Amino acid sequence: MNPQHHFKVEVASNIALLKYWGKRDPSKQWPANDSLSMTLKNAQTFTSARVIGETSDVVIWGGRQLPSDDPAAVRVRNHLSRLRAILCLDSKLEIVTENTFPAACGIASSASGFAALTTAALAAWTGGRSLEDLDQVGFSRSQLALLARLGSGSACRSLWGGFVRWHAGDTPDSQAVEQLCDESHWPLADVIVLVSDKEKKISSRVGHESAFSSPFMEPRLAGLPERMSKMIAAIESRHLEGLGLLMEAEALEMHSVMMSSNPAANYLLPETTALLSWIRKRRHFGDFPAYFTIDAGPNVHLICEPGDVAKVCAALNDDWPELRLFRDECGSGPVLRALS
Ligand code: PMV
Repeated sequence: MNPQHHFKVEVASNIALLKYWGKRDPSKQWPANDSLSMTLKNAQTFTSARVIGETSDVVIWGGRQLPSDDPAAVRVRNHLSRLRAILCLDSKLEIVTENTFPAACGIASSASGFAALTTAALAAWTGGRSLEDLDQVGFSRSQLALLARLGSGSACRSLWGGFVRWHAGDTPDSQAVEQLCDESHWPLADVIVLVSDKEKKISSRVGHESAFSSPFMEPRLAGLPERMSKMIAAIESRHLEGLGLLMEAEALEMHSVMMSSNPAANYLLPETTALLSWIRKRRHFGDFPAYFTIDAGPNVHLICEPGDVAKVCAALNDDWPELRLFRDECGSGPVLRALS
């Protein structure tokens, strides 16, 4: 980190177990449905920010200053401009950020990225040096979450650890984010299978916009409240098979909406679908107690008990030696650390 930066925000990504897909009102970032996720621990974004006397924001990503027309720099600047407009602020920021995992390939880098950016920006503007400081000057986690979701909806769930629900609410302004339980309740593991680290061709923003054109979207929305209740019950009782089967149906349903939308989006690669068949076959015939979910990308998240991670990784290494594995687990949420 740049030594002139006085704090660093560390935010982990989250994996949606019940997905946010489609928006009722894109201008207000109002999701079509409630979603539920598990916050991760190792797939992290580190971001720091400081006020600068320049006329525009400066973005340094992975040690390199991004050109002003770089799409990532544009997204960061647009979010900062949005925050400044809401908060009636003017000062520009230098943002220094890096990820511990590849961006934009379905490991939800935008979730940790926008949660970290929002928290870092507020810390720089208010002089806050901890989350408690920010709370005292009017920026509680809930407020940070509602601001972060304006950059990327899923970012609002990364403001808490454990299992987190984002309520769509009855109006765009009645959205709320709630921690259902912290990571100590059920410290599940997530073995992320990196099928490809190439950037996805269709952004989630474009995908969300076409969701309602799918003939499966309305039937999906009608069934989600029941799926949500069953998922919460499975989490409360720590029932992995119950949660796992609901989670797999949910991921496949979201991808069927994506593939049947106009324009259609197929995020899955041939290796992804081959891997899904292999997972189900292994589970049926062998000792493979893990269940998959997939976000808007080709990579597969395998959720399992921590004690089964070695077994799951060994089976994958034997049959899929070319695929990289990234071991993660349920994490405790963001940290804002003072550097000096
Ligand atoms: O937050 P966005 O706009 O990148 O959309 C996230 C969409 C999914 O990752 C596919 C699902 C989710 O709930 O995280």
